[in-house]
Amino acid sequence: MLMLVGLVLCLTPTDALTAFPPKFVLGSLNEDVVVKCNTSKQQVTWTQNGELEPMAELVAKGQTLTILGLDLPATGNYSCWAGGVLLDTTYVVVRVTGEEEAKNVSCQADSYRGSFRCSWTGPRSAVFRARLMRSNGSFGDWVPVAGRGGQFNASFTDPSFCPFAEELHQLQLYLEGISDTSFFNFTSPRFFIRDIVRPDPPQKLTVQQQSEQLRLTWAPPASWPLPRSYFALLYRLQYELSNGTQVEKFVEGAEETIVEEHMRRVRISCQDPYAKPSWSSWSPWQVVDAAQQHRLRAH
Ligand SMILES: *[C@@H]1O[C@H](CO)[C@@H](O)[C@H](O)[C@H]1NC(C)=O
Ligand SMILES: *[C@@H]1O[C@H](CO)[C@@H](O)[C@H](O)[C@H]1NC(C)=O
Ligand SMILES: *[C@@H]1O[C@H](CO)[C@@H](O)[C@H](O)[C@H]1NC(C)=O
Ligand SMILES: *[C@@H]1O[C@H](CO)[C@@H](O)[C@H](O)[C@H]1NC(C)=O
Ligand SMILES: *[C@@H]1O[C@H](CO)[C@@H](O)[C@H](O)[C@H]1NC(C)=O
Ligand SMILES: *[C@@H]1O[C@H](CO)[C@@H](O)[C@H](O)[C@H]1NC(C)=O
Ligand SMILES: *[C@@H]1O[C@H](CO)[C@@H](O)[C@H](O)[C@H]1NC(C)=O
Repeated sequence: MLMLVGLVLCLTPTDALTAFPPKFVLGSLNEDVVVKCNTSKQQVTWTQNGELEPMAELVAKGQTLTILGLDLPATGNYSCWAGGVLLDTTYVVVRVTGEEEAKNVSCQADSYRGSFRCSWTGPRSAVFRARLMRSNGSFGDWVPVAGRGGQFNASFTDPSFCPFAEELHQLQLYLEGISDTSFFNFTSPRFFIRDIVRPDPPQKLTVQQQSEQLRLTWAPPASWPLPRSYFALLYRLQYELSNGTQVEKFVEGAEETIVEEHMRRVRISCQDPYAKPSWSSWSPWQVVDAAQQHRLRAH
């Protein structure tokens, strides 16, 4: 029991990471790791996790520090100093292989603008950075990752994306994470942006009475690209009759329809008819005016 407590204390770094460290070195357990201080100073002193007396066996020589036989207590923040001035910081972590430390990666775009968001789950203590890889081998810039409670997400823009042209190269999300003392990386399955488009819900759904009928009108989601003739949408209306029966009606390429029956409430979602089917979430229910219902029923 005492041994377990001791182990946990040693494994917990003095400063938990709050952001992905800009400079890090990967090491393997029981092997030597070399850390370099990026400075022109000839002599530097080192701290590990803010301590002058590191929990590691070290050899310092000029601007170089060698960690002999890396173990978990020897990981963390190595900073070099000259006369109380911080010169450089390197984070030393152990590379983990085999385990999948990032799971359930899913990416979604609300439009054909080349921007999208990806989310995934990982260890609660992890910090991540992410970037895109194209199937022709080019890389995007690193983007920061937001995360809390083991849920992470990041936003991307593919600057070469053109909504009017066929996408040539598939994308892949590349993730690097550091959790406590270990480093891991992960690549998502490949995808085209056109295959992850899920529109926002349509907006401005209104119901007007027109003699004995109801005229429903709406607008495409604000994030949906123009022109409408090119970026057509398939709409799905769902309405509830006064006896409780739910009815669905599909409308393609138009933003209005006429309904003969009287209804209590109605909502709408949409889908890109040419992409893989992924319906938007529903708009909020639109309650049909009681007076309208009454007048309709009187007919
Ligand atoms: C490492 O330690 C230095 C000096 O204490 C500090 O300025 C820096 O923010 C730390 N870096 C990380 C990634 O914890
Ligand atoms: C070293 O520091 C210089 C100046 O701050 C910087 O331009 C350079 O990229 C650094 N090199 C490395 C390997 O960090
Ligand atoms: C990940 O997805 C699988 C199914 O694809 C699901 O069973 C599991 O609960 C998900 N895990 C998390 C942490 O969301
Ligand atoms: C990969 O394709 C993108 C556009 O899809 C282009 O901008 C980039 O230059 C290409 N890179 C290579 C290495 O071919
Ligand atoms: C992204 O992560 C942040 C931080 O956990 C969270 O507040 C936000 O709601 C997430 N966004 C999405 C779209 O999941
Ligand atoms: C992880 O990074 C190493 C190089 O640092 C690379 O060889 C390996 O392919 C990466 N793994 C994945 C899943 O991308
Ligand atoms: C509800 O009304 C519709 C049309 O008036 C009718 O077709 C349907 O059978 C009714 N459903 C029930 C459960 O009464």
